[in-house]
Amino acid sequence: MKKITYVTRRAQFSAAHRLHNPEFSDEENRRIYDKCNNPSGHGHNYDVEVTVVGETDSDTGMVIDLKILKRLLNDYVIEKLDHKHLNHDVDFMSGIIPTAENIAIKIWEQLKPHITSGTLHCVKLYESQNNYVEYRGE
Ligand code: NI
Repeated sequence: MKKITYVTRRAQFSAAHRLHNPEFSDEENRRIYDKCNNPSGHGHNYDVEVTVVGETDSDTGMVIDLKILKRLLNDYVIEKLDHKHLNHDVDFMSGIIPTAENIAIKIWEQLKPHITSGTLHCVKLYESQNNYVEYRGE
């Protein structure tokens, strides 16, 4: 019987953003995004959790080496997002409304090509203690 295990690495970053859709009127933007439409932006301390799923390798006893997952998450996500303004400073967020949903999708896209052991299963992004989103690549 296959032994499938889910392996998760967590990390933190702080970033600023503004939720604003240029296709909407200023009034609509304020109605939809409320305080998050604040013209100068605002910040969050984000937590991100990345889960890789797979069979445990019979030689190493691992699905993916957590040292490698830590490095990939750091190099391709945290280093690029931490202390940045997501509307202006991050190439892969360009032209995207930086909602938690969209940030999670972009984090997935950043990591996916680099996960060569196991399979990327989900990206969870906590924007606050009580709000988080989960993306599974669908
Ligand atoms: Ni916000």
